[in-house]
Amino acid sequence: MNADRPTEPDNKGFTDHEYFVGLMSGTSLDGIDAVLVDFADDPPRLIEALTHPLPNTLRQQLAALCQPGADEIERMGRADIALGELFADAVQQLLRQTDIPAAEIHAIGSHGQTIRHRPGAGFTLQVGDANRIAQRTRITTVADFRRRDMAAGGQGAPLVPAFHAALSRSPDITRVVLNLGGMANITLLPANPEQPVSGFDTGPGNVLMDSWARQHLGRPLDENGAWAASGSVAEALLSHCLCDGYFRQPPPKSTGREHFNADWLAARMGESKHSPSAVDVQATLCELTAISVAEAIRQAGSDAAELLVCGGGAHNAHLLSRLRAHLEPMDVIPSNERGLAADWVEAVAFAWLAREALAARPGNLPAVTGASEAVVLGAIYPGRS
Ligand SMILES: Nc1ncnc2c1ncn2[C@@H]1O[C@H](COP(=O)(O)OP(=O)(O)OP(=O)(O)O)[C@@H](O)[C@H]1O
Ligand SMILES: [Mg+2]
Repeated sequence: MNADRPTEPDNKGFTDHEYFVGLMSGTSLDGIDAVLVDFADDPPRLIEALTHPLPNTLRQQLAALCQPGADEIERMGRADIALGELFADAVQQLLRQTDIPAAEIHAIGSHGQTIRHRPGAGFTLQVGDANRIAQRTRITTVADFRRRDMAAGGQGAPLVPAFHAALSRSPDITRVVLNLGGMANITLLPANPEQPVSGFDTGPGNVLMDSWARQHLGRPLDENGAWAASGSVAEALLSHCLCDGYFRQPPPKSTGREHFNADWLAARMGESKHSPSAVDVQATLCELTAISVAEAIRQAGSDAAELLVCGGGAHNAHLLSRLRAHLEPMDVIPSNERGLAADWVEAVAFAWLAREALAARPGNLPAVTGASEAVVLGAIYPGRS
C-alpha cells in the first residue's frame, strides 16, 4: 500500500469505495474506538470515528480479569459476551452517523480487549466475542489477530508496526512512530529501504499515571499531564522503577497490564525509604514513561530525525515536553501535525489488518514480533451464513 496517512474525519461522497471498520479497545480501558475507513483512497480516508463508552462496571470486570483470580472462566465468559455486544453497538452507531449501509462494509477488524498477554508462555487472550459482532451487524468480522503470530513463535505484538510502515515510511527521512496507549510501543522506520522496520513495546505508557490519578484525584486521567507537571521527580523511586528487568531485555519484547500495574508500583514504592507525595509520584511516573521511551529509541540505535507521537498520550503536554528534553535534537511531533489522526491510528490499523487478512496477505513483521515467518493474521467470522 502506498498510503501516507489517514486524514481527519471527512465524508465527501466518493463513488468507488473500499470501506472497512476498525475496533480498538486498548489497555487503558478508556473506551471503544471505532473508525470507518475508505481504503480506495490514497492515503486512506478516515470517514468517521467515535469512542463508544465502556460502562464502569464492565471496565472494572475487564480490569479484574487482567489479574489471575477465582472463577475466571465464568467471569471471562460473561465479559466476552457483554463486550461483543458493545462492539456491535459501536459499529451500528458508527454506521448511523455516516448513513453508509452495512452491506457496503467489506469487513470489521476487531482487536478485542486483552485480558492476558503472556508471550513467554506463548499465549495471549483478547475478549469481545466476534461471533456476536458478525451476527448483529451481518458484516464479516476479523478478530484474534495475535495468536497466529504466536503460533509462528512470535510475541503476538506489537502488530501496528506494519501499518505504521505502510503509512509513514519515507525514503527522505528516518522516523520513529511512538504509540502512547496504556503501554508504549515504538516503530523504527529507516529511510534506507535496505534496513528493516523494527519495533517493540518500551514499557508503560499511560497505565500507571492513569491508575495513580484515579486513586488520588478520583479522575480517569491527569488532564494534559498538568498534575505531573506541578510535582517533582522522586529520584529514588524513579531508579527503583527503572531497575525493572523489562527495560534491559532485548527485543523482540511486549508487555501489558499483567506486568506494569498498581501492584508493580506499590512494590517499587515499598523499596523506597521515604514515601514521596502523591503529586511527586505522578511526576515520577511521567518521567518513567519519557525516560524508558527515550532509552529504548537510543538502544535501538536509531538516528531518526523525527518522532511522531500518537495514542491518547499525545495529549499529555507534560509527557511530550519530557520526551523532547530526553530526545533532543530529535523533533518530537504529535502525529496530528503530520496529518496522522493521533487518536485513531490503532483502530485504523485493525481495519487495515482486516483488509490484509481478507486479501490473504501477512500482517506481522517477523523482525518486530520474532515470529519465524510472515503469516496471515486473524480469524474470519462471515457476516452472513
Ligand atoms: N488530555 C489528555 N491528557 C492526558 N492524557 C490523556 C489525555 N487524553 C488521553 N490521555 C491518555 O490516553 C489514554 C488513552 O489512550 P489510548 O486510547 O491511545 O490508549 P489505549 O486504549 O490503551 O490503546 P492501546 O493499548 O491500543 O495503545 C488515556 O487513558 C489517558 O491516559
Ligand atoms: Mg483507548
